[in-house]
Amino acid sequence: MTQSNPFDFTGKVALVTGGTRGIGKELSTTLAQHGARVFFCGTNQELGNQVADTINATLPQDNAPTSFYQVDVSDFKACGDMVTNIIAESGQIDFLINNAGITRDNLLMRLKESDWDEVMAVNLKGCFNCSKAVIRGMIKKRYGRIISLSSVIGLMGNSGQANYAAAKAGIIGFSRSIAREVASRNINSNIIAPGYIQTEMTQAMDEKAQDKIKELIPVSRLGTVNDVCNAALFLLSPMADYITGQVLQVDGGMLIA
Ligand SMILES: NC(=O)c1ccc[n+]([C@@H]2O[C@H](COP(=O)([O-])OP(=O)(O)OC[C@H]3O[C@@H](n4cnc5c(N)ncnc54)[C@H](O)[C@@H]3O)[C@@H](O)[C@H]2O)c1
Repeated sequence: MTQSNPFDFTGKVALVTGGTRGIGKELSTTLAQHGARVFFCGTNQELGNQVADTINATLPQDNAPTSFYQVDVSDFKACGDMVTNIIAESGQIDFLINNAGITRDNLLMRLKESDWDEVMAVNLKGCFNCSKAVIRGMIKKRYGRIISLSSVIGLMGNSGQANYAAAKAGIIGFSRSIAREVASRNINSNIIAPGYIQTEMTQAMDEKAQDKIKELIPVSRLGTVNDVCNAALFLLSPMADYITGQVLQVDGGMLIA
């Protein structure tokens, strides 16, 4: 019996937010290599163009090209315009990955109002802005897969990250609510909660801090961007058609509850 490849995304259109580096860059690259037409956004035009060129240079000739949009996800109108333009260009958006995120860490005593507002605007409102922009098209098509990047910090809290933890916990409540709203339209909304993944975001930690974290991780290593991509591929594939509103932890067992 021949079986079709569940990870062949030829004909699908994906929007990845925050795709210029780290997890988002790997997600954009991987989805494009699996046949999807990928659009990714970020705030740095030059870097975005560079990443798009790099991805396109690795693609087989038949694969759809990857494109960059310079968009700040905290800007409601800009997100709506981006989605309108993508749909005009490619007809649909099948996959949305709400990945863009920032940290502005400090203890509550020292946390500034702007640290709170910026993290909420990018990490949480960004999810709302992009999900709201794509949902009408997905409902019309009776198909959609939304993945939002939370964090184990949103589940367990972390000293010095009250703003980040609150935004990441908010993403879970938001994603589960829309999962309930649109499940009957064949739209799934799931959450990936990574633990510590090796990216520029976590590179700032010194070796001592990294060793300390490894002690908290049963598999004894930090995660890789690939570990997160594999979880996303599964959730976007038909193998996960009956899974919605779930939090998939990719954390090496760091938080087993
Ligand atoms: N790296 C980790 O250990 C880890 C752990 C848990 C969760 N996460 C989450 O995964 C996601 C990706 O993390 P990462 O480590 O790759 O981060 P990163 O800092 O390496 O990359 C974040 C991306 O988001 C983009 N971005 C930032 N602000 C933006 C804005 N306003 N509009 C559009 N794009 C914007 C950046 O340009 C970059 O491309 C984030 O949401 C992060 O919170 C990461």
